[in-house]
Amino acid sequence: MNRLAPALELPLAAMGEMTHRCPLQCPYCSNPVELQKAGGELTTGEWKRVLDELAGLGVLQFHFSGGEPLARKDIVELVAHASDAGLYTNLITSAVMLDEGKMAALAEAGLNHVQISIQGAEAESADRIAGMKGAHAKKIEAARLVRDVGIPLTVNAVMHRQNLDQLAAVIDLAVTLDAARLEVAHVQYYGWALKNRAALIPTPRQLDAATALVDEARQRLKGRLVIDYVIPDYYAELPKKCMGGWGSSFFILSPSGKVLPCHAAETITGLAFDSVRDHRLEWIWRESPALNLYRGTGWMAEPCRSCEFREIDLGGCRCQAFALAGDAGATDPACGRSPRHRDIFSLAVTEASEDRRSLVYRTFAGGA
Ligand code: SF4
Ligand code: FES
Repeated sequence: MNRLAPALELPLAAMGEMTHRCPLQCPYCSNPVELQKAGGELTTGEWKRVLDELAGLGVLQFHFSGGEPLARKDIVELVAHASDAGLYTNLITSAVMLDEGKMAALAEAGLNHVQISIQGAEAESADRIAGMKGAHAKKIEAARLVRDVGIPLTVNAVMHRQNLDQLAAVIDLAVTLDAARLEVAHVQYYGWALKNRAALIPTPRQLDAATALVDEARQRLKGRLVIDYVIPDYYAELPKKCMGGWGSSFFILSPSGKVLPCHAAETITGLAFDSVRDHRLEWIWRESPALNLYRGTGWMAEPCRSCEFREIDLGGCRCQAFALAGDAGATDPACGRSPRHRDIFSLAVTEASEDRRSLVYRTFAGGA
């Protein structure tokens, strides 16, 4: 029998992918391979109803994400609505569309926090990774605008073989920008990023050097900058407890209102996620077959089923299992106990040692 989270309370935080539209073309984009066209996005009225529903169900935080959430013309109106409903609001943005006027309007609307992603510390290479000339300079300027209006800032830096040599400079940059938090997140290789694994995955030695650098910076910057660190789990001993468990402590609303357990869930073909267009959120959270499918431990096959770590990592990441093993119910191949681990790990180490640099960019052709 499947063991469910206690009483299946709704999580305290949720995220909305307000749109899949985005001016950047990052080669590790976490949006699904099939993007939602603008015409199918929830309308302003539908998002407002969802925000009210969230607040009414006791959700406390709402993360406005994307794609690029600023690509929605109604973003200020929606932030104001969320704020009026009592939600703590966080804008997760590439920041290339964040100008002074928009920043002032968002602050006026009650925005509580901003997270800006960067592609490195050097403009030329960061722009190459983002696939947009001038993007890095815009981000730096936007970060200053955020701090000028007194809103706390998190910098998110996605790291990989082509920018790991900039890690020390990335940490310095976060301090210069007066960020309270820096997320150093190595690329996770599923979804679009899997197409670019050979060009992006670091060698085990590069990863060790990065980890040591982060450890040192955490000590040095204690009380000034919090650094979160996410490694590519190919190189971890155990897989990550992805999203804290499928349908467990967080959920994401897709641009068309589907309730997903994680960003990449729609890469798993054959799963039908329920939408707030058809059901109440509370019903979806408790009853949606797709959310219930991998909750708890009852769905597990061997070796997870009899593993002493099954309650700790909940079998790892379902999206990675699907991407690498073709079966979302399989043990995450990142786990050393997966029968597929050895082959996948050695392939990744071989890829990491090659000098491949060309990238398959993510473009959005879904219309504005
Ligand atoms: Fe986790 Fe399954 Fe690996 Fe055990 S076998 S460590 S439960 S992924
Ligand atoms: Fe979907 Fe890990 S990203 S379960």
